[in-house]
Amino acid sequence: MHQSSLQLWINVSLFDGLESATEPMAIAVKEGRIAWLKPVSELSVDDKSGFECIDVKGALMTPGLIDCHTHLVFGGNRAGEFEARLEGASYEEIARAGGGIISTVRATRAASEDELFESAKPRLQALIADGVTTVEIKSGYGLDVENELKMLRVARRLGRELPVRVVTTLLGAHALPPEYKDDADGYISLVCSQMIPAAVAERLADAVDVFCENIAFSVEQCERVYAAAKAHGLAIKGHTEQLSNLGGSAAAARAGALSVDHIEYLDEDGVKALAEADTVATLLPGAFFILRETKMPPIELLRRYQVPMALATDANPGTSPIFSLKLMLNMACTLFRLTPIEALRGVTAHGAQALGLQTEVGRIAPGLQADFCLWDTTNPAELAYSVGLPRLTHRVVAGKMSGGAA
Ligand code: NIG
Ligand code: FE
Repeated sequence: MHQSSLQLWINVSLFDGLESATEPMAIAVKEGRIAWLKPVSELSVDDKSGFECIDVKGALMTPGLIDCHTHLVFGGNRAGEFEARLEGASYEEIARAGGGIISTVRATRAASEDELFESAKPRLQALIADGVTTVEIKSGYGLDVENELKMLRVARRLGRELPVRVVTTLLGAHALPPEYKDDADGYISLVCSQMIPAAVAERLADAVDVFCENIAFSVEQCERVYAAAKAHGLAIKGHTEQLSNLGGSAAAARAGALSVDHIEYLDEDGVKALAEADTVATLLPGAFFILRETKMPPIELLRRYQVPMALATDANPGTSPIFSLKLMLNMACTLFRLTPIEALRGVTAHGAQALGLQTEVGRIAPGLQADFCLWDTTNPAELAYSVGLPRLTHRVVAGKMSGGAA
């Protein structure tokens, strides 16, 4: 079905990743990439020559969705912690008592590569069914060289075996493992001098991330990780200002981070630092919702300083056991008051920028990968408005049909 290497998709209602087209569009695909696009009203007979023509009769086309922040690979689950939090325990209390991230570390260390692959697969399939064509997957539940690499190998294998682009991020500095109790600096040295070089040697990581927080690592420790990552040519990202304002976002921006993520506690100076460094602000409403956070990320300031906002699931066993990027569109609007178009940019053009992939994916534009979704609606706002609908009818990755209901 539609496997020709020359396709012309016509009568498309287009959201191109940044804007909506004002008239029906034609999108030409050649050998897996977008060749050109123009209004249907301007199509000539010559334009159509040689193409397989696919009339979508006004259906909405968006770029393939990009989930730029996930922790899809992990052992076990944390349903018990969910119940404990409902009874009043906080995320921080649970973490300090050795639960939280560390409980997932125990389960992840105990799992084989095959077991981790098999448990991650349905999570990724759920995202794929939602229209995701590019996903970032972090390590961070191994916390030693062997287990962090094991997680990254599973992430790479998911990208080879499922029809989705996978970007991997080494999150060695996620939490302090029990072996390094009271020696956070020693653990950071292990991350910098062994974990990062080992991941680079096996080409397992595209970027390096940290958790900059009172219950995790200080700004100075995160800066050491950034320096080591950059010395190895890796991009950097940060979990920053999630539970308190430590200045981690500004430090990440100064170090040239692609994105800072969560940022509920970010202040105006931090927002300015993002604007100056062209760092993307990634919003994670799933974690905000699950933790019943009340501090809102500084959306008005981000708008005022024109900081691009990405949007992601943060899919993980603790703070966001949510495997739907479309639900995030709704939550970004209902919880954070984004407009539907801002939310959509967050999972397309700005999601791509958060991964440094904006010249490859995230927009319907000439030269980019032909990764796109067709939806059973004409109106992009409906993707954020409704939960469970509209239906994804076609999902196309590099010009190849791969999923969708049609
Ligand atoms: O993005 N903030 C830190 N890390 C994850 C949560 C991981 C977990 O609780 O397992 C997050 O929310
Ligand atoms: Fe996260």
